[in-house]
Amino acid sequence: MKTPVVDVKNVKKVYGKSGESQSYALNGVSFSILEGEFVGIMGPSGSGKTTLLNVISTLDKATEGSIHIAGSDITTMKQGALSDFRSQKLGFIFQDFNLLENLSIYENIALPLSLQGVSSRKIGPMVQKVAATLRITEILQKYPSEVSGGQKQRCAAARALVHEPAIILGDEPTGALDSKNATSLLEAMTNLNENHGVSIMMVTHDAYSASYCQRILFIQDGELYKEIHRTGAREDFYREILDVLADLGGAKA
Ligand SMILES: Nc1ncnc2c1ncn2[C@@H]1O[C@H](COP(=O)(O)OP(=O)(O)OP(=O)(O)O)[C@@H](O)[C@H]1O
Ligand SMILES: [Mg+2]
Repeated sequence: MKTPVVDVKNVKKVYGKSGESQSYALNGVSFSILEGEFVGIMGPSGSGKTTLLNVISTLDKATEGSIHIAGSDITTMKQGALSDFRSQKLGFIFQDFNLLENLSIYENIALPLSLQGVSSRKIGPMVQKVAATLRITEILQKYPSEVSGGQKQRCAAARALVHEPAIILGDEPTGALDSKNATSLLEAMTNLNENHGVSIMMVTHDAYSASYCQRILFIQDGELYKEIHRTGAREDFYREILDVLADLGGAKA
């Protein structure tokens, strides 16, 4: 039986200090992501997507509820343990790449390993392996300013993956890409997921990107609104996603 890699139970998040006017950005959200799943998070602007990603990624604290990742409860961990946990168990892909301009692509990808104190002898083969998976072997010696947006984002994906995290978390990873590069990143993510068993959770407002997921959780006003599974062709799933977005009143075709 597959085990959950992420288990979110009744999570609530309130911003602001007590006494000030408060509203729930997350108001009792529960769901699990199983090992090897590719899950999308969608919902209107302000519905709580980034908040949800931030509390799962340990960048922010939930006000209530529990979040287990790879078996550990991150809501009770102390700061020091959290930062170790983050660097070992999580991989991030952001909209704006976050590559360091003065490091080569190779060095950027190697960074999570160097920070964990992995020896450079071991780092080489690990970087080469993810680079081959993401088809960026040819550009490893270049600098971010010398490669395309799509290549940059595949480098960011390689960096998110190189330390073999329990899950990859993406916040609008295709947001800054044109459609050709977005497709190439989504195909690379699908390859990681289907052929290498990598678990992925991706926040996106884009129905086309979301259609690459196996399952989508829709949130509205900080609550789970609906969940849909892909059962057939991606094109059919795309239309199904647009229908749900239209019901939500936030359709973006
Ligand atoms: N740091 C913050 N302080 C106070 N309120 C916040 C903060 N961050 C978010 N919120 C509020 O929490 C709610 C959820 O915001 P969140 O950023 O999670 O939405 P989102 O679904 O990611 O929206 P978008 O699609 O526009 O990125 C919104 O009402 C927002 O105004
Ligand atoms: Mg957001």
